[in-house]
Amino acid sequence: MSIAIESYPFAPYRELSNTELCTRIQSAKKELGSSLLILGHHYQQDEVIQHADLKGDSYQLSKLAAESSECRTIVFCGVHFMAETADILANRSDRIAIRGGARVRVVLPDMAAGCSMADMAAIRQVEAAWDQLGDVIDTNDLTPVTYINSAASLKAFCGKHGGIVCTSSNAKAVLEWAFKQRKRVFFFPDQHLGRNTSLKMGITNDFMPVWNPHEEMGGNSREAIESSKVILWKGHCSVHQMFQADHVHSFRKRIEGIKILVHPECPQEVNDIADISGSTSKIIETVKQSPPGSKWAIGTELHLVDRLKKEHPEQEIHFLSPLVCMCATMYRIDLAHLCWSLENIVAGTIVNEIKVKEETARWSVVALERMLSVK
Ligand code: 13P
Ligand code: SF4
Repeated sequence: MSIAIESYPFAPYRELSNTELCTRIQSAKKELGSSLLILGHHYQQDEVIQHADLKGDSYQLSKLAAESSECRTIVFCGVHFMAETADILANRSDRIAIRGGARVRVVLPDMAAGCSMADMAAIRQVEAAWDQLGDVIDTNDLTPVTYINSAASLKAFCGKHGGIVCTSSNAKAVLEWAFKQRKRVFFFPDQHLGRNTSLKMGITNDFMPVWNPHEEMGGNSREAIESSKVILWKGHCSVHQMFQADHVHSFRKRIEGIKILVHPECPQEVNDIADISGSTSKIIETVKQSPPGSKWAIGTELHLVDRLKKEHPEQEIHFLSPLVCMCATMYRIDLAHLCWSLENIVAGTIVNEIKVKEETARWSVVALERMLSVK
């Protein structure tokens, strides 16, 4: 690999056609061989995901990153928190030792690919909430649980305070684990995943106050906090929040035999009346396992639903909302950014590297490993 002094600028890549970008991406991949791993989340657009070596939901991708041994660079076609998780897991001390001391460098092709939900909980807000809660309840009784869709600093906070990370695939098992440790849970940043999962476990809304970080005591009375079982952070996914109960009623009225399949990041009113609620992988598996002629209205990110439609023409698949609910930040990763980042790697320059600070990574690993060991 030659060592370049400067990186290639991005601007000229905007002028290239998709055909040319695809050809150049393929030749960069060929040149980098097994030293490169392109990971893609299921919500990614088709033209990008076709270049991914491995695709998955957040849980599968974090496991894949943790297992990487041959690769030296991961290019993450997802969003910022996913690339951070990949950096943390691929560079645990045991993994670095297996590679004879070599780190894996993680690249996010466009730094603007963030997550609005993750941005709804800043570490200083979570720390302030923890302190305020400590004035009312014993925080030794409280397990912090962060959804993987959060900044590394929140994962580190959970690692330090006996807490854990969850994904939409394992949220119930993680909450069961949390309740074995302590009697209450502080769940952030997605109130809907926290609420929908806890409801399935028999915990009612009376015992789930919502913590608004912009209000004193999160906008709650002392009594509400004292009697709480799960304290839910007031955060949400701007994509899944858009699905409504009316969309479900409308499909049921119009199409006989239709089944409603939704992600647990959707609000409770939608989850309560859906036929099936589950993670991205569960949604994919449910459709895969269904017989021809099955009818679905699916409430999750648009690109995934469109892909399912294409892959299963033998079934009738609809998008649950009349609106366009797509992850605009994940959509920032396009062929031009992918090609630009790969050609820079070939030239010996890592652009858009995601590198979590050592101390943050060390504590995040604690919370992530707790999650990976929960069955
Ligand atoms: P999963 O991949 O865990 O289903 O999460 C959905 C999501 O919002 C990813 O950002
Ligand atoms: Fe974040 Fe929602 Fe996009 Fe997932 S789908 S990355 S939670 S904004």
